[in-house]
Amino acid sequence: MDTKVSLCGLTLDNPLIPASGTFGYGYEYSDFYDINILGSLSIKGTTLNDRYGNEGIRVAETASGMLNSVGLQNHGVDYVIEKEFPRMREVFKKPAVANISGFSVEEYVAVAEKFDACDEIGILEINVSCPNVHSGGIAFGTDPSAAATVTEAVKKAVKKPVVMKLSPNVTDIAAIAKACENAGADGICLINTLKGVRIDMNRRRPLLGNVTGGLSGPAVFPVALAMIWSVYKTCSIPIIGCGGVTTASDVIEMMMAGATAVEVGAANLVNPAACKDIIEALPSVMKKYKIDRLSDIIGAAHREDK
Ligand code: FUM
Repeated sequence: MDTKVSLCGLTLDNPLIPASGTFGYGYEYSDFYDINILGSLSIKGTTLNDRYGNEGIRVAETASGMLNSVGLQNHGVDYVIEKEFPRMREVFKKPAVANISGFSVEEYVAVAEKFDACDEIGILEINVSCPNVHSGGIAFGTDPSAAATVTEAVKKAVKKPVVMKLSPNVTDIAAIAKACENAGADGICLINTLKGVRIDMNRRRPLLGNVTGGLSGPAVFPVALAMIWSVYKTCSIPIIGCGGVTTASDVIEMMMAGATAVEVGAANLVNPAACKDIIEALPSVMKKYKIDRLSDIIGAAHREDK
């Protein structure tokens, strides 16, 4: 059985990519399994400068999911390249995905240029969708022309493929994806988390220090599928699907909706071996649905419509 997929010029052994912010730089998980079985991995969202992130409580459980409000905590791009990449390289021999965040177009470009020069990186994932910061980030991902401006500026500055990571907290995600495609994006990743709130009833105050957080986990899976469905119909560039995937069947369902590759996020926090379990289960689920080559099913559910 053939689990390979081709994504923005890279051949992945399988479509599985741990999502940014749920897998560190890979070495944190390498005691659990050989992470070279992954298709790739997406590193923690990186900004130009060191960021502490949000104050107070940052995560909360929800029914079939969780809220996070980390606030883009990271050490900044230079530290990541100098200190994290050597550790990642020891345990992961494949090209990784660099998830990049910024508070201005210039910041996105500056970080992308630095990662573009790194052999460890195969794809630049431009995060215009973090719901947990009060400026930048999602502001660029909720307006088609702002998303296009970031896409165009980054594309002009780099050689590696550029995938735009989009927010579900919009009215028409397909319009934003199309604007990114028209501006030169090589792919679209969707969805980032959905904005949510929980209340601490003892304190009669919001539970999270930032008040709002991003909802992920199995609860968001059908939302992700709906958005992948509509972007697949509108765009021709590949989609990295993300949102609530926990099983090999979810991977196949997401690919049938239009995803070429699939990111797994919250599931890694519940079961550190989630991606390994999914990869190992793929052949038997492929057999169940009479799939010889995984790449054949990308967008299969659209075939009568497209
Ligand atoms: O808060 C965070 O660091 C999350 C980032 C994201 O969802 O993109």
